[in-house]
Amino acid sequence: MATPVDLPSREERAAALESAGYNLFDVAADRVFVDLLTDSGTGTMSDAQWAAVLRGDESYAGSSSFRRLREAVADVMGFDRVVPAHQGRGAENVLYGTLVAEGDRVLNNTHFDTTRAHVAANGGEAVDCPDPAASEPDANDPFKGNFDVEAGRAAVDEVGAANVSVVVLTITNNSAAGQPVSVENTREVAAFADEIGATFVIDACRFAENAHFVTEREPEFADATAAEVAREQLGYADAIVMSGKKDGLVNIGGFVAVDGGLDDLFERAKQRAILYEGFPTYGGLAGRDLEAMAVGLREAVDDDYLAHRVGQVAELGAELAAAGLPVYEPVGGHAVYVDAGAALDHVPSSDFPGQALACELYLEGGVRTVELGSFAFPETERPEYVRFAVPRRTYHREHFEHVGETAAAVVDRADELTGFEVVDEPPMKELRHFSADLRPLDG
Ligand code: F0G
Repeated sequence: MATPVDLPSREERAAALESAGYNLFDVAADRVFVDLLTDSGTGTMSDAQWAAVLRGDESYAGSSSFRRLREAVADVMGFDRVVPAHQGRGAENVLYGTLVAEGDRVLNNTHFDTTRAHVAANGGEAVDCPDPAASEPDANDPFKGNFDVEAGRAAVDEVGAANVSVVVLTITNNSAAGQPVSVENTREVAAFADEIGATFVIDACRFAENAHFVTEREPEFADATAAEVAREQLGYADAIVMSGKKDGLVNIGGFVAVDGGLDDLFERAKQRAILYEGFPTYGGLAGRDLEAMAVGLREAVDDDYLAHRVGQVAELGAELAAAGLPVYEPVGGHAVYVDAGAALDHVPSSDFPGQALACELYLEGGVRTVELGSFAFPETERPEYVRFAVPRRTYHREHFEHVGETAAAVVDRADELTGFEVVDEPPMKELRHFSADLRPLDG
């Protein structure tokens, strides 16, 4: 599909920003020129996916579309017990609702927001165990997304192994700048989970991009294909949780998949899926959605596609660095993360430098990004990131050049930018960045 896009005038952009309460989630998409808000569900489907959509089997139970999805998950990811869900967080509800009990600890290299929320919703405590290199934006380490097993052990020692029910590995590590996880680390985490008797889950949203990095950076896999790495890496997990909106290459969909030996977990997940998602052969999706995801999963592990995909993100990273923005290195698999705290060092954290940068990028060039600093994550100590996420198979070099030119113009007048204050926010602070209204401090 091709969609015409146009750049609204500066006056129109200023008006759109003001009426959105300086919250980019509230700006209408047709007022955006290059939309880098997220890589989730925003990619372009292939001809083969659209063709598959037409043969969607809409039977309530046992559709052939579900069978084709199950076969694709088995072939590409190595699991033949699949419970579909409407998207990643639906799958998280099914899986963590089954695995996490009141008072349990869940360890993760870094919890993504919805994962953390599902652990909390089930009465659990989410503990992050990131590799220490993850917090060094300039460290040129190949696998900054890894799980720090020593930190994991310390978290177990505090409460006892019986209270740690689940160990999760998020590949790539979205909340740590989209950094990859090595297969070696995956083996260590699997052994650690086994040793403490916890279920080992892989959040596989971006499993194919992760596999691509492994082929490039982990010597043992220098001659392997991404498809081979993906099967090897996912093979260590007891269960996987998937948002098809990323490496499923679809606009909607997700699933849980469970290892062949875990009958009880599979049965319990199916029961919970019936409650929240739908009968376990459609899980909140139309048959045509299952078809598109089955084809997308196979396309996602194609080495040429992945080299282009990850290459595009690196190209955007180079544009932004050349424009003078402090880019997190190495660049991740789905997004470029920029440290707005360093770019706007005259704006204190309490005035949301990331939001100031994101709003100015929109005002300057109609470029939409997302703040992932102290506005999105109040009361947590983290860098003032702005994320430029790249939709799959959607934009061209010219778009990235435009983003680079926009960034350069913003950098030129960075010291004139002022911060923001929140004027209205929803009761749940964790979700405020989706709907809060702000005001520039100069006005
Ligand atoms: N896990 C990870 C690592 C994710 O990045 C996401 C979504 C989810 C789970 C939830 O999946 O959106 O299909 O319900 N990440 C998106 C993002 C929203 O913009 O990073 P979902």
